[in-house]
Amino acid sequence: MADAHEADMFVLFGGTGDLARRMLLPSLYFLDADGFLPEGFRILASARAAMSRDAFVAEVRKSLAERAPAEGINPDAWARFSARLDYVSCDATRAEGVESLKAPLAGARRAIFYLALSPSLYGRVCMALGGADLVGPETRIVLEKPIGRDLESSRVINAAVGEFFAEERIFRIDHYLGKETVQNLIALRFANSLFEPLWNNLTIDHVQITVAETEGVGDRWGYYDEYGALRDMVQNHMLQLLCLVAMEPPSDMEPDSLRNEKVKVLRSLRRFTRAEAQNNSVRGQYGAGMAGGEPAAAYETERGQETGTETFVALRADIDNWRWAGVPFFLRTGKRLPERRTQIAIQFKPVPHSIFDGPAKADLTPNRLVIDLQPDEDIELTLMNKSPGLSQGGMRLQSMPLSLSLLRAYSGPGARRRIAYERLLLDVVHGARALFVRRDEVEEAWRWIDGVAEAWREAGMTPKPYAAGSWGPAGAFALIERSERAWND
Ligand code: BG6
Repeated sequence: MADAHEADMFVLFGGTGDLARRMLLPSLYFLDADGFLPEGFRILASARAAMSRDAFVAEVRKSLAERAPAEGINPDAWARFSARLDYVSCDATRAEGVESLKAPLAGARRAIFYLALSPSLYGRVCMALGGADLVGPETRIVLEKPIGRDLESSRVINAAVGEFFAEERIFRIDHYLGKETVQNLIALRFANSLFEPLWNNLTIDHVQITVAETEGVGDRWGYYDEYGALRDMVQNHMLQLLCLVAMEPPSDMEPDSLRNEKVKVLRSLRRFTRAEAQNNSVRGQYGAGMAGGEPAAAYETERGQETGTETFVALRADIDNWRWAGVPFFLRTGKRLPERRTQIAIQFKPVPHSIFDGPAKADLTPNRLVIDLQPDEDIELTLMNKSPGLSQGGMRLQSMPLSLSLLRAYSGPGARRRIAYERLLLDVVHGARALFVRRDEVEEAWRWIDGVAEAWREAGMTPKPYAAGSWGPAGAFALIERSERAWND
């Protein structure tokens, strides 16, 4: 049944680009195949290149084949989906350029403009759309990260977009918020009474967030070299994960209730000084090494010249508030690491006093809650229990996992792990904003990141080399070992 906020038109700028091809169009197809797209919903892709509608539809079919489940593309679903598609070439940065969108947009009551474009164009595209009178009171706009390269540039972009779109009609995507397990973190914390009383500095020793990728930068260096791992991953995905772990319980699931809590966490992040940068952070850049059993080139070889951009960051973040005082959050992300792993590990403190003596004393290990987001989704709590059987000289203990393995959820017939964008696109269609990032969130995140970058500059910290296929520079281990802790590897 149609809801009062349902959109009826999706205009995809950058419609022939990589993101559109790999993520957005397949996500829209899967939503449609499962009956989630409204009747009469149209998808208009646009890019500079001249292309016929038929040629575009054929391209979409090809990209879908690469993502489709083993049983292939459902012919009925494809017939319905392809009938929604259209293509118009335009220069989206000029009001005269977007004139060609007028005819297809006529009659659309609630359009979504999705900018799968370089963020440097966001302001100009909004101006062009506004200038051509294409922005109605209910038109929504979707922006991809990175919004800016620092606080100043993100303010400029946000202000330019804000001239034409009210904040509640701006949907800033962080695709990590569309991942099932990221949302599950909210369920885990606030749908169980078990964890919340323990979720603080009385019981938790520290938190680790790792986003490890095996892929290198490859031919994305044109974008990447200007940003590096700090701005590409930490500013957005990793700080969002940190916020969801650290935030206070929101009063409800209203978008602003959730986002208010996240902003408070960002404001409580301790700013890096030069000395802290040296002690509490590590920058790395991959050199030649191995990836998946094959020799892999150094980043500078891919880039074609020497560069001071980091492809690895490890840092210790401190949240200065009552709940988290004294609980470090260790963050680590990098390209060309030995495995793909996105994981949040909550390390609890040891029991305050051990009644166990003898060998059991050494068996005793503190509880740990590990939330795996990728490649598999799982939530695992390790608990101590008695080693079964008869032992002499006192009981032996062992650490056992209590697992909510979500693999099963994807193993039934027809079950499929959804692309994170499916959740987010569906929410844009319905105007649901909770999983999108508000302007002040983006800006607070940049404020903190700018502090890190500035401290690096002041301390003269350049990236340390690490071999492709390793866990980053040695300093990343020293960083966590300095506080007598270790990465959960
Ligand atoms: C993107 C970054 O936002 O996220 C990429 O720009 C990174 O550099 C990607 O590879 C990781 O996303 P995921 O969903 O594969 O973990």
